[in-house]
Amino acid sequence: MKVLVIGNGGREHAMVWKLAKSRQVDKVYCCQGNAGISDIAECVDIKLNDFDALLDFVNYEWIDMTIVGPEAPLADGIVDAFEKNGRKIMGPTKAAAQLESSKVFAKDFMRKYNIPTSDYKMFTSYNQAEEYIRLKGAPIVVKADGLAAGKGVIVAETEDDAIEGIKIIMKDKVFGNAGNKVVIEECLVGEEASYMVFTDGETILPMVSSQDHKRIFDNDKGPNTGGMGAYSPAPVVTDELEKVIMDRVMRPTIEGMKREGIKFKGILYAGLMIKDGMPQVLEFNCRLGDPETQPVLMRMESDLMDIALGIADENLKDVELKWKDDETVCVVISSEGYPGKYKKGDVIKGLDKFKGRDDVVVFHAGTSYDGDNVVTSGGRVLGVTGIGKTLKEAKEKTYDAVSKIHFEGMHYRKDISDKAFNR
Ligand code: AMP
Ligand code: GLY
Repeated sequence: MKVLVIGNGGREHAMVWKLAKSRQVDKVYCCQGNAGISDIAECVDIKLNDFDALLDFVNYEWIDMTIVGPEAPLADGIVDAFEKNGRKIMGPTKAAAQLESSKVFAKDFMRKYNIPTSDYKMFTSYNQAEEYIRLKGAPIVVKADGLAAGKGVIVAETEDDAIEGIKIIMKDKVFGNAGNKVVIEECLVGEEASYMVFTDGETILPMVSSQDHKRIFDNDKGPNTGGMGAYSPAPVVTDELEKVIMDRVMRPTIEGMKREGIKFKGILYAGLMIKDGMPQVLEFNCRLGDPETQPVLMRMESDLMDIALGIADENLKDVELKWKDDETVCVVISSEGYPGKYKKGDVIKGLDKFKGRDDVVVFHAGTSYDGDNVVTSGGRVLGVTGIGKTLKEAKEKTYDAVSKIHFEGMHYRKDISDKAFNR
């Protein structure tokens, strides 16, 4: 079978890497890919939102299955377009993807179906939003309603910061129409974890737990990023808590969507805040997390293509999901300046040492080829991921590998997975 992966990042490299090992897959394509992906798949240069061109390509190459990495094409209706044309694709429809593409939709949905989340109010008027912030006081969280590439959330320590946040979103329109509405919500405290499931709208198969590291600097300091590293499993997600997450979050969400007349198929990701052993939903995503996918897929024993087909054909109940007991750590190496303005085009050295290894995999994100050299081309550049019998072993292996890689101005956190040890 032939499979097409949509996306360019570390998550997509991990998906391509896993699919390339599938018994059923003869050829993997990726749109648009990066240097690492182009070593193991055929990359095609089509815009991710040009669904007509993507469909033409899939029809021309006789591609059997398309798997979507990032949220934007899902929110724009790529699944609807493919299904209308009789093409197999794994992911939620535009209506289902609203769980991620509209914070207002997600919060109203959670309130209606009694899914644990923080208290909130929605505003379309700047003045009323400001009044509400003054009334509630800080800390408080301000969120743009629509997609904002992970930048539309402001966790404000002071009222002034929160008001600056609504100004940026509602008046300056930094995120365009995504800022027509804002959600202002109670600030939660606790430890965060990521929990993802595969679902065909009926059967729900949970993945192993993981934990992201959103801030740029050690000890969760500095601005938020797309994610600077992740590890799996996250010990904060105990077996008992996993049951609660399935009973209180995952099942009611899939069931609730069904009651709304929307079948949710694909990946449901809950970003959770855990306090006193209870989860609260910070956000839903309708796709795999980046960088969580890198450590999670390295632990997956099952064939990812079986799962994708199970979802698309709605017979996930017949698919068995198996995981390794081994543990994994992924450290993201970013360009100097990220998450602000960053430099591109620096040569990356040391990558050859890891070719062909299965215990340490260097997943590429913002990389491209310049002649024979692999050079930086994005903010997050690499996701070095190690697997070991224990988290300690995985961490040591990963950081040892990171120390052998070099490019000018490279930055990485030194404390990925430390939360698991300092409990
Ligand atoms: P989101 O995109 O909604 O997950 O928000 C990004 C990050 O902001 C989360 O991973 C949390 O670190 C933080 N965050 C979001 N909502 C809240 C909240 N209600 N309380 C505290 N932190 C939050
Ligand atoms: N790592 C967070 C996300 O993928 O949204």
